[in-house]
Amino acid sequence: MKTTTRFLPIIVCISFLVILQSCKKDDKPQTAEQKVDSMMRSAVSPADTGTPIASDGGKVSFSDKAKKGQAIFYNTSFGKIKASCAMCHSDGTNTTKDAHTRAGHTLAGVTSRTATWNGMYKGDDLQKNAYGARLCASAFQHRGDGDLNKALTQDEVESLIEYLTALNATPGAITKNLTIQWVAKPTFKDDQQPDEKLVKPAVKAIMKLPGDPAKGQVVFQSTCSNCHDLKAKKIGPSMVDAATDMSYVAQSIRTGSSAMPFFSKDILNDQQIADVIAYIQSSLNQ
Ligand code: HEC
Ligand code: HEC
Repeated sequence: MKTTTRFLPIIVCISFLVILQSCKKDDKPQTAEQKVDSMMRSAVSPADTGTPIASDGGKVSFSDKAKKGQAIFYNTSFGKIKASCAMCHSDGTNTTKDAHTRAGHTLAGVTSRTATWNGMYKGDDLQKNAYGARLCASAFQHRGDGDLNKALTQDEVESLIEYLTALNATPGAITKNLTIQWVAKPTFKDDQQPDEKLVKPAVKAIMKLPGDPAKGQVVFQSTCSNCHDLKAKKIGPSMVDAATDMSYVAQSIRTGSSAMPFFSKDILNDQQIADVIAYIQSSLNQ
């Protein structure tokens, strides 16, 4: 009896630790992205010195051609505008650590889709245009001086397709066609404007919402700060220079503007845009 009493605190302590441990596991189920990350890590071969697949240094072996495609995906100097594909798209692995909200959807699964860019590319055009990457390279990276044909070489198209195909097996891949929830069909030539009848009400809906600057700061950090600073020029202009008319800021976010990508409704909702505008406005007034 005496011995049991003496060991009781230790027994209680150990049971407590065991319970705590099992609680921990239940509290933190792995997200899809963490699962991809650990899967990628387990696929890492120590002998492989290929291009890092994720910003956190995980490595995976691909064919040489797929590695070439991967290098394009992460290249911030691919075009005149210093935005990489990875700044705007997930490949199923690069979102693990940086927690950015990207303008484009994940590219994992894209080579299983039968139409991209809301039907702009289908059939033979998918392969010819690396599933629509050609448009991104031309419009958002300013590659090929406005000539869509020159935005990607045949070798670059093939390398990208091989890389994108290798991503199809990643959990979280979207193999079904996307419905991109843009407010108006985007335009990519300076002499074209998106349909004003559709853009005006979309901007109005945002501007009538009260915005929260504190929440907007978080949105700005995760969504805009790769390309914009409040006061300094980055990939895009500073907010001091660009954000003089807040309705126009709302419009630029929804429709894009030259190399600035559009953000569809499923990526940023109206409230998030109202919040980011409130943040920009309050910071510039300080
Ligand atoms: C500035 C941002 C930006 C950059 C840089 C960019 N994209 Fe995109 N991309 C988009 C947006 C926005 C879409 C519209 C569809 C969506 O939301 O995914 C898109 C669509 C696509 C699609 C079609 C997806 C579908 O199912 O409709 C592919 C493929 C693609 N991009 C590949 C690339 C590749 C490869 C690169 C680099 C060479 C690249 N993109 C660079 C923003 C970008
Ligand atoms: C991948 C890079 C990228 C991201 C992300 C991005 N922008 Fe931009 N943005 C640009 C570039 C490049 C331009 C300059 C476009 C041009 O050449 O007119 C621009 C232009 C703008 C303009 C001025 C538009 C004009 O026509 O003068 C505003 C306002 C703006 N961005 C706001 C934002 C806000 C707010 C966010 C976050 C919700 C954001 N941007 C996210 C790259 C980006």
